[in-house]
Amino acid sequence: MIRRLAIIGVGLIGGSLARALRVAGAVGEVVGCGRTLANLERAVELGVIDRYSQDIGAAVAGADMVMLALPLGAMESAFRAMRGHLPADAVITDGGSVKGSVVADARRAFGRVPENFVPGHPIAGTEQSGVEASFAELYRNRRVILTPLPETDRQALRRVETMWRQCGAEVTEMAVAHHDEVLAATSHLPHMLAYSLVDSLARMKENDEIFRYAAGGFRDFTRIASSNPVMWRDICLANRSALGQMLKHFAGELHDLADALSSGDGDRLLQIFERAKAARDRYVDRV
Ligand SMILES: NC(=O)c1ccc[n+]([C@@H]2O[C@H](COP(=O)([O-])OP(=O)(O)OC[C@H]3O[C@@H](n4cnc5c(N)ncnc54)[C@H](OP(=O)(O)O)[C@@H]3O)[C@@H](O)[C@H]2O)c1
Repeated sequence: MIRRLAIIGVGLIGGSLARALRVAGAVGEVVGCGRTLANLERAVELGVIDRYSQDIGAAVAGADMVMLALPLGAMESAFRAMRGHLPADAVITDGGSVKGSVVADARRAFGRVPENFVPGHPIAGTEQSGVEASFAELYRNRRVILTPLPETDRQALRRVETMWRQCGAEVTEMAVAHHDEVLAATSHLPHMLAYSLVDSLARMKENDEIFRYAAGGFRDFTRIASSNPVMWRDICLANRSALGQMLKHFAGELHDLADALSSGDGDRLLQIFERAKAARDRYVDRV
């Protein structure tokens, strides 16, 4: 049981965590922290948090679990602001989509990565943001990846694992760099492609007509381009090394596709489409 949970950034990810733990009866008090009063007051009205402070030091005082659910660009200053205010038994974790950058932020802010910091990433989300978008079932049957370091305290790790299991999630562990490579391929690259496709169509002269006739496939493929642009700018920059490599590799694949098209190589196209369909049918609907 978490006695007092401090949520730094009460949006989709932080709000959904608080809601899920409340439903599970796994948390006593929830204290929120953020910049916008209206969002924090709404979070109290919705019963997501019990009270709030706009001061990070005050929000983490007395907490035994601290969850950072901010855009990646705000993590380092949040770590700095909590220095000297954390109770000795507090565990810190986060939900940031890139782990190497958050670990580096913690190292810069504290001078070393604290043993009671357990980096994490719930593989769950929607294209909505803010506390209004949060819901208790977000993590049910979804994966959460924890990326502990050799110095991470084992008991802190167990406490974060237990927290996510209480939300209905399946918890796995991965090395930091491996996490960032895998997520560059499965999440960050698709977001870049969706943003770039929609943007390039929107800049075409006939864009009204293009969007008017956009059907289900376009909607499915581009839903994630409605995600929060600031959050995704931060994710892309924070994972730019792994993501840059994926993007270059994929650009080569696109050139191959264009070559197959211009030479009328139907066999090549069929081979690519059949392989892709088989892979998607095998993996995606199972997770
Ligand atoms: N959305 C997803 O699908 C998803 C999935 C997995 C992981 N994540 C990760 O989870 C984290 C949070 O994402 P989210 O989807 O929950 O975003 P969100 O709904 O926009 O919530 C983020 C919250 O952080 C606060 N905030 C924003 N900028 C801040 C700043 N500079 N300083 C202090 N507070 C700030 C905002 O509240 P105020 O405006 O009141 O400050 C907002 O409520 C990100 O690191 C993201 O990479 C997201």
